[in-house]
Amino acid sequence: MTDGQHPTIALFPGSFDPITNGHLDIISRGARLFDQVVVAILVNIEKSPLFTVPERVALLREVLAELPNVSVDTFDGLLVDYARRRRATAVVRGLRAISDFEYEMQMALMNRRLSPELETVFMMPAEAYSYVSSRLVKEVFALGGSIAGLVPPAVEARLRGRPRA
Ligand code: PNS
Repeated sequence: MTDGQHPTIALFPGSFDPITNGHLDIISRGARLFDQVVVAILVNIEKSPLFTVPERVALLREVLAELPNVSVDTFDGLLVDYARRRRATAVVRGLRAISDFEYEMQMALMNRRLSPELETVFMMPAEAYSYVSSRLVKEVFALGGSIAGLVPPAVEARLRGRPRA
């Protein structure tokens, strides 16, 4: 809880390749609960990402520009170590369906074991986004389907500006 002196900082970690309207929905909800939300892009070793990490940073900053208490950063290594460096006390994750639960619970409990003071907070997205994932967005786009309404317009424009994978 905020004590008026120390802002409550929450991390919203993920791959964001690309950011979807589901992510955006959760970030907006988190930004109403916490003083600051840091959207933290994992710099991972995925071989063929759709967007490079610098492209994802730029897109996220553009899409989140109107949320003054939300910032964008990258991290590698353990999330709990990054949380300590940023003085974050919470990790926000979206839960779309029961199918997300097992993986999310494992991560939350592993992170709790590594860092008992870091709390994971699960938030439900709007129903309209309950089936939206970066993986399916990529697949639908690559196969020529419409992704309008599933990702922010900036992401769609960016995808249209490049040849299909
Ligand atoms: O968007 P994603 O791919 O579901 O995000 C997964 C993420 C980035 C939250 C998770 O892979 C992560 O925190 N990776 C950092 C490495 C780490 O801390 N692993 C142990 C946590 S159980």
